[in-house]
Amino acid sequence: MNTISTIPNLRAQINEWRRQKKTIALVPTMGNLHAGHLSLVEQAVADRVVVSIFVNPLQFGVGEDYQTYPRTFEADCEKLEKVSTHLLFTPSVTELYPAGMSSYVTVPKLSNILCGASRPDHFKGVATVVNILLNIVQPDKALFGEKDYQQLMIIKRMVADLFMPIEIIGVPIVREADGLAMSSRNQYLNAEQRAIAPCLWKTIDKMRLESGERNYTSLEKNAMQALAELGFKPDYVAVRQAQTLELPTAADKDLVILAAAWLGKARLIDNKIVSF
Ligand code: PAF
Repeated sequence: MNTISTIPNLRAQINEWRRQKKTIALVPTMGNLHAGHLSLVEQAVADRVVVSIFVNPLQFGVGEDYQTYPRTFEADCEKLEKVSTHLLFTPSVTELYPAGMSSYVTVPKLSNILCGASRPDHFKGVATVVNILLNIVQPDKALFGEKDYQQLMIIKRMVADLFMPIEIIGVPIVREADGLAMSSRNQYLNAEQRAIAPCLWKTIDKMRLESGERNYTSLEKNAMQALAELGFKPDYVAVRQAQTLELPTAADKDLVILAAAWLGKARLIDNKIVSF
């Protein structure tokens, strides 16, 4: 695995691969890699797989965990060596955001709801950095985890709206044995919180839309209450149309249940895609 941290060096390598007619997949990450990230790399079917590690300051709000976000570069490299990564891109903040940089990408309708309602500008930061990475690497495809479902829908929308010739692939959530969705932020949980954390998934999994219940507001309210009783500080539980994240009508059959809840210092998110 080759590690590159500057844009000119990365572009030289990409140009060389393009000359050789190689297909290229990009897996953007913020590092602190776990099995969920590695499954993105494993499912990246392409001649060359590029993984980026960049803790993006633009997507962290004031008072959020940008400074303390776990940075585990050596361990990440060891893990990437074991899966089929050809190139690791590790730009600095000034490499991606040089002085004077003043352009942003926003997907307002999808970004101001759900997680965006409590994390203003978060998705503007995500859309901007993903746009930058896609422009630098110009991959044929890019892979993102379905755990960050709203992020995935925003990136798909951005790529479609801006006619970017890149296939965006969502990869299913990887869970711990007890159902907790894998996330770098799970390590913020103490032992007691870690024991409760899988209940976020269990609570939304129990909503059982498949069994015919259509009073989504009541299901959401009951789930919020159940989470609060378990010790979470729920942010939202929402049943939405799977692609647009709009409120579903009774006729909609492709839905997603999304949830976000605080447990101590950790803001956990999870979701369940439901089709019937
Ligand atoms: O999902 C993440 O790790 C980040 O939001 C991403 C897509 C790498 C952008 O910084």
